[in-house]
Amino acid sequence: MKSATWTLSAAAAAAVLLALVPASAQQPAPIILKLSHVVAAETPKGKGSERFKELAEKYTNGRVKVEVYPNSTLYKDKEELEALQLGAVQMLAPSNAKFGPLGIKDFEVLDLPMLIPSLAQLRKVTEGPIGIGMLNKLDSVGLIGLGYWDNGFKVMTANKPLRNVDDFKGLKMRIQPSKVLQSQFKALGSLPQTIAFGEVYQSLQTGVVDGQENTPANIYSQKMHEVQKYMTLSNHGYIGYVVVVGKPFWNGLPADIREQLTKAVNEATKYVNEISQQENDDAVAAIRKSGKTELISLTPAELESWRKAMAPVYDEMGERVGKQLIQDIQKTVAVTN
Ligand code: LMR
Repeated sequence: MKSATWTLSAAAAAAVLLALVPASAQQPAPIILKLSHVVAAETPKGKGSERFKELAEKYTNGRVKVEVYPNSTLYKDKEELEALQLGAVQMLAPSNAKFGPLGIKDFEVLDLPMLIPSLAQLRKVTEGPIGIGMLNKLDSVGLIGLGYWDNGFKVMTANKPLRNVDDFKGLKMRIQPSKVLQSQFKALGSLPQTIAFGEVYQSLQTGVVDGQENTPANIYSQKMHEVQKYMTLSNHGYIGYVVVVGKPFWNGLPADIREQLTKAVNEATKYVNEISQQENDDAVAAIRKSGKTELISLTPAELESWRKAMAPVYDEMGERVGKQLIQDIQKTVAVTN
């Protein structure tokens, strides 16, 4: 009887002790994955980031918690890449135009004007050996590339109609930090100014720059069309993203977690690339409906004059991004089946 009482009270004491142990000590704390980006949540990248979060948390049964920070709330263009290298964030999806300052110039090739005829042809580049080879270059700067996300094709905005090449003369145009884009606007006779995405609206509003190029989804979600009178639907170039993680973070993950996160990224990639065209078409329709900006369509002859004016960029930037790489991409996109 005595020993039964003892057993009972010992069990009760153990239960009390267990109840006192905080839940956090019973289960390992989740791995926090911070994903920072500069665009609005309602853009292809914003939606892709949310989809990744949802899938990553589901596939890892909550062992990974993804925190998405949109709209430059955590870091702007340049700082986010530095933060990734320092491990302050774990995942980003910067545009192809933003890797030059890290010393990786290859991605800028996709900034070349009129290089990519369609998203289907782009896919052959990014999903084939060229795209994989470019991702592998990230290793040298301590990053791992997990895939390519679309935004879409760029249009031009300004407070004057941009129809002929002469219209660009002397305009201060905002660019992303890409030498190819710098060369493109110089070829058009403009004065390119590198400005972080988070500061573009204000720079347009206050007249720091006269105009800019971007995708309709980015323009609409940042309300740039409210401070620009004209938008030329030129589709003269492409904006897309490289999904990157820090190498120490990624390689330090348990193998099963890495596998589930890879699955989540791949599915989010498929999702983004399926919705990107529609997102941009919807943004053009919304900008048109707002009545704040006049939309300009170019005739084939006008577009051809832009192409001619921008053609020297290929020679000028051949050295930087690699002549062979340009030729390989041209060959790949020329095959239409
Ligand atoms: C820009 O800086 O214009 C864009 O690349 C921003 C983005 O991430 O889409």
